[in-house]
Amino acid sequence: GTLFALVVGGLFAWLYTGARISTVGAVDFRNALVVPPLAASTVDADGTRVFDLRMQAGQSEFTPGTRTATWGFNRSYLGPTLRATEGEKVRVRVANTLPEESSVHWHGMHLPAAMDGGPHQVVPAGGSWAPEWTVAQPAATLWYHPHPHGATEAHVQRGLAGLFLLDDARSAALPLPRSYGVDDIPAIVQDVRLDGAEFDHGHQLMRNVGFLGERTMVNGTLDPYVSVGDELVRLRLLNASTARVYTFGLDDGRPLQQIASDGGLLEAPYATGRLRLSPGERAEVVVRMQPGERRVLRSYPLDAGLDFWNQRFGGGDDSFDVLQLRAQPTLRPSAPLPPALAASRLPTGEDSVRERSFDLRMSGINGRKMDMSRVDETVTRGTTETWTLRNEDGMPHNFHVHDVQFRVLDIDSAAPPPSLRGPKDTVFVPPGSTVRIALRFEGPADPGTPYMYHCHLLYHEDRGMMGQFVVAEPGGPVAALSPAPSNG
Ligand code: C2O
Ligand code: CU
Ligand code: CU
Repeated sequence: GTLFALVVGGLFAWLYTGARISTVGAVDFRNALVVPPLAASTVDADGTRVFDLRMQAGQSEFTPGTRTATWGFNRSYLGPTLRATEGEKVRVRVANTLPEESSVHWHGMHLPAAMDGGPHQVVPAGGSWAPEWTVAQPAATLWYHPHPHGATEAHVQRGLAGLFLLDDARSAALPLPRSYGVDDIPAIVQDVRLDGAEFDHGHQLMRNVGFLGERTMVNGTLDPYVSVGDELVRLRLLNASTARVYTFGLDDGRPLQQIASDGGLLEAPYATGRLRLSPGERAEVVVRMQPGERRVLRSYPLDAGLDFWNQRFGGGDDSFDVLQLRAQPTLRPSAPLPPALAASRLPTGEDSVRERSFDLRMSGINGRKMDMSRVDETVTRGTTETWTLRNEDGMPHNFHVHDVQFRVLDIDSAAPPPSLRGPKDTVFVPPGSTVRIALRFEGPADPGTPYMYHCHLLYHEDRGMMGQFVVAEPGGPVAALSPAPSNG
C-alpha cells in the first residue's frame, strides 16, 4: 500500500509541478475593496429582528467593461452582512428568485434543526422560507450559503455567500477595532478562474479536490486594496473557496494577531506568522500598521514538510497575493489589544458520554455516502461526546459539524496549536492525520430533523461525503427517519 501510494504520489507530483500558480508580485491592486453592506433590518412588535434575503441572478463587472453572469443575495454577487446580538430573536425572510431550488444555511449558528437551512429545508424556485431563532452563542464571524443536496459547490461558486456577524455584551466592552468597514474589515476570500467574461468552474484534470482557481477575489473584488486609517486593523477572514486551502501571512513577515476562530474569540490574542484556513473556516486577525506603508496579505505554500499530499492536491503549493493594506500618511491611534479576550465556553471532553469515529474518504464517511433518508448518528441533548476524525485516503479533507462549536482536543495526539484552541465548527484533517474533537449538543431535541456533518470541500460534500445526526431527548423517541445503526 505504502509503495503504491509513493509511486502514485510521485506521478501526481510530476504531473502538477508545471501547473503551479503564483500571483505573488504580479497583482497591481488597482481596485478598492468592496465591503459588503450591512443588511437593513426592522424590529417587529415582539422584538424580533427581521432581515430580507433575496436570492437572485445578475451580472457583475469584476473587470471594467466585462459583465459576468453571477448569483447573489439582494445584489448580483455575494450578500449583505447580517448582524445580531446574543439573546436577540431573529427572523430571515428568504425569497428564491433563481431558476432552481436552493437553501440557505447559517454556518456556525446554534439553532433548531428545522431552521438550519441544510438540504432538508429546500426553498423552491420562486418560493420562500422564513426561519427564526434566538441567538444563543457568543460574538463570532459566521456565514451563510446555500446547501442544496448535490449542488452546493455550484451555488456557492456562482456567488451565493455572505457573512453573519454576532455580537455580545462582553466582547463589545473590549478595546478591539469595531468600526465596520473602517478598522473592522470583512474579507471573504475566494479563488476564481475567468474565461473572458465568464466564470470557468471546470475542475483540473485528476486534482480530485474540486475547483481550484487561478486568482483570488476578496468580497468579490479582484486585485483589491483597502485603505487603512487606524493603527490597528481587524480582518475577518472567511475561506469561502470551494476547495482551496489558504495559508495567510504578511509579506514582511510581521505577525498576524489572531483574536478569533470560527465561533468566536480566543482566550488571548495569538501572534502567528502563518494562519491556515481550509474551506468554511474563519479567523479574525489584527494587524498593526505603520503610517504610509503598503503591506500585502498573501497565501503562502504550506510550511515545508507539513505534508506532501496536501501540497499536491489542496493547491497549498500555490502562492497568491490576496489583499493590499494601504496605510494613510497619518493613522488614528488604536487602543492596544487586551491581553485577555474571552473565557472559553467549550466542552473539555472530560464529561464525554460517548465516543464515535469518522473515517473520512472522498468516497464517503465511514464507508457510506450521504443518504437524506438515513440518520447516521443519534446524540442526546445536553451531553458531551468525543469524535475521532481520521483522514484515510490521503486527500485533503476537513470536517464541519452543524449546530455546534467544538473544541479540538488533539491532532495526531499532540495539543492543537493556539489558532485551533478557540471555538471551531470546521477543522482541517490533514492527509493521514487523526483529529479528536469534543462537542456538546444543547438541543433542542428534534429526532425527525437531522443536522449535517461533512467535508467542506464542496465537491466532496456534493459527491456524498456527508452524514446526518439528530438530537434526541434522554430516553426519548428515536429518529423518525429510517435510522441506520450508529457506529462507535
Ligand atoms: Cu458551511 Cu453544511 O456547511
Ligand atoms: Cu454549516
Ligand atoms: Cu474532502
